[in-house]
Amino acid sequence: MTQPIVSIMDIKQAKQEGRKLVMVTAYDYPFGLMADEAGVDMVLVGDSLGMVVLGLDSTVPVTVEMMIHHIQAVVRGCKHPLVVGDMPFMSYNTGIRDAIINSGRLMKEGGCDAVKLEGGVDFAPVVEAIVKAGIPVQGHIGLTPQTASALGGFKMQGKDAAAARRIVEDAKALEAAGAFSIVAEAVPAPLGKLIAESVNVPVIGIGAGVDVDGQVLVTHDMVGLFDKFIPKFVKQYTKIRPTIIDAIKAYGDDVRGASFPTDKHSFGMSDETLAELKKSLDKKDS
Ligand code: KIV
Repeated sequence: MTQPIVSIMDIKQAKQEGRKLVMVTAYDYPFGLMADEAGVDMVLVGDSLGMVVLGLDSTVPVTVEMMIHHIQAVVRGCKHPLVVGDMPFMSYNTGIRDAIINSGRLMKEGGCDAVKLEGGVDFAPVVEAIVKAGIPVQGHIGLTPQTASALGGFKMQGKDAAAARRIVEDAKALEAAGAFSIVAEAVPAPLGKLIAESVNVPVIGIGAGVDVDGQVLVTHDMVGLFDKFIPKFVKQYTKIRPTIIDAIKAYGDDVRGASFPTDKHSFGMSDETLAELKKSLDKKDS
């Protein structure tokens, strides 16, 4: 079966049809290709790349340039899924003009189909302006990692009724501003359900329970490539890290024991050419 090319309309329609949406992160060409081949609906080039790929302590130092570099690589691998590029910290927080310029850069230079940014009611005017400029926006509410320190760390959000209500209001404000979908991170499952019921655009959960319109996970968490810490909401579908370490160790043993490369991995030379070469080298030396 040929895979369809996923559009913004398809994403919106999925909610009306009751079809769950599948989203994963990717940061480079091979993971873009694999996500594409696995048939996901959306690929997020998340600023989580700062932590899981670049080894930073948070997403805060990630820049627009870094995002463009990684988005370009992912886009080369993704022919079918909708590719969403994450707006890094301070690329949209300093005003509407900056937000439009930077989201435009992710789309024009990076090649993504849409951008994502963190924030609810307070950022609705920014979302509205970007959407009006012709760039589809995905919202991100609940736990917003770029401002995690202001939220008390990487913790579940919407614990009491007032905080939960504010998150529902965030979702409604983003929908009214024109966001085509909303990521809801680390909120209680019943709140995830309420958020999804409060808006007509798809709500993509990450630690928001099952009663939302789709799920997103950081691929490096899901495949066990990054295991510095594993959030409660992550399901590890495989543990690829030990497999890779074992392969590198086996290679090291082979190199040290001179059992790699064998003839199978080496280029040959005819006896005549070798003899001729040796002769010419002997002549040069004498
Ligand atoms: O940057 C990212 O990967 C994200 C996901 C956690 C949704 O924002």
